Amino acid sequence: MKINLQRTITSLTNALDFVGTDEFQHGKRVALMAAMIASEMDWPQLRREKMLYAGMIHDCGVSRTIEHRAINETLEWEGAQKHCQRGADFLSDCPPLAHFSEIVYWHHTRWEALLYEDLADDLRLETNLVFLADRADVLFAPYFIGASLKNEILWEYPEVVARIAGLSGSLFAPELVEAFQRASARESFWLAMDPSYIEDQIEDYLCRGQPVELDMADALAVAGLFAHTVDAKSTYTLEHSTRVARIARHLAEASGIRGEHLDKVEIAGLLHDIGKLRVPEEIIDKPGPLTREERAFVMRHSYDSGHILRKVFPGQPIADWAALHHENLLGTGYPYHCQALNIPREARLIAVADIFQALSQERPYRGHMSKSEVMSRIDDLSALGRIDPEMVKLLHAQLDHCYALAVD
Ligand SMILES: [Fe+2]
Ligand SMILES: [Fe+2]
Ligand SMILES: [Fe+2]
Repeated sequence: MKINLQRTITSLTNALDFVGTDEFQHGKRVALMAAMIASEMDWPQLRREKMLYAGMIHDCGVSRTIEHRAINETLEWEGAQKHCQRGADFLSDCPPLAHFSEIVYWHHTRWEALLYEDLADDLRLETNLVFLADRADVLFAPYFIGASLKNEILWEYPEVVARIAGLSGSLFAPELVEAFQRASARESFWLAMDPSYIEDQIEDYLCRGQPVELDMADALAVAGLFAHTVDAKSTYTLEHSTRVARIARHLAEASGIRGEHLDKVEIAGLLHDIGKLRVPEEIIDKPGPLTREERAFVMRHSYDSGHILRKVFPGQPIADWAALHHENLLGTGYPYHCQALNIPREARLIAVADIFQALSQERPYRGHMSKSEVMSRIDDLSALGRIDPEMVKLLHAQLDHCYALAVD
């Protein structure tokens, strides 16, 4: 299986962009602004593309709605460096994207401070360009109402530009500010960011570049990066996705699945909850029962995971396996209410691994459970006919190893 890097980044950015529930499409706008300013500076095609990707993934360290809000409420927030560090750490662990780690690390550092850091000149400008586009988007945000760009931007943008220009030499490199002023003097600069156009605009840029194909090892690494982002959403879900993926892979192997098929199961495990990025953490962390509205938020996450993954892995079953992880054999799961026969073996396996890991891990409404407590709950679910008894048998046979994968 080969995966296209460009498509992977844009689709996963869609998931990331949902974290800012009221700052929707932030990553895409930062990406497009950075690429347009890079064009204005006559940077070569490859470097423009690099800016586009850097913009899309610059906030991969942000999965909490509350942090997203704080970073995007004021131009400078003293807690901002935490998400830069987190994002840089996630990226440096992901070989195909590790070269973005430094750009992300420095993307909230003032230009006047960057000048004293021992950094390559190219990197200094690139990371400061992400900072500029990112802060311009904060000022630009009031011109969006829901899914549309307000026409007022066409006579009010000089105010946004003037605010940024006033920070030339302190927050931002003077040459970047000048290029921003030239590029943004064209109405097209702002109109390109209309919510209904921006995806096409980004696609347009991507088409100009050379497609990059990821092999399986790289695809697993990128899936792992986004799993880290999802898991960082709540202390209760820390490492949940990576652990579910390991348990699912182990059970798949014990059930006789081999080769690339195992890698696909692992990817589906890593990304099964990627749709949770749009669930506010207040809901995930809530210690009591959920309200009807809160439950509706949670109940869409597996559908959203499937939707995102179908774009990343077209023609592959990975998206379905992830989308079906809250179905059950009685047809009373969500969101498809699939009957047993329509739930593939891999999806049943991920569902069991998911329940097993979640029960083993502490949750806001209860402590963590012992191995025997977990298994008695799993056996009950199996007796009710909700989960696949074959998978439960496998789990019993592999219990010590699986429990270690779940909690150690
Ligand atoms: Fe940002
Ligand atoms: Fe889930
Ligand atoms: Fe899960």
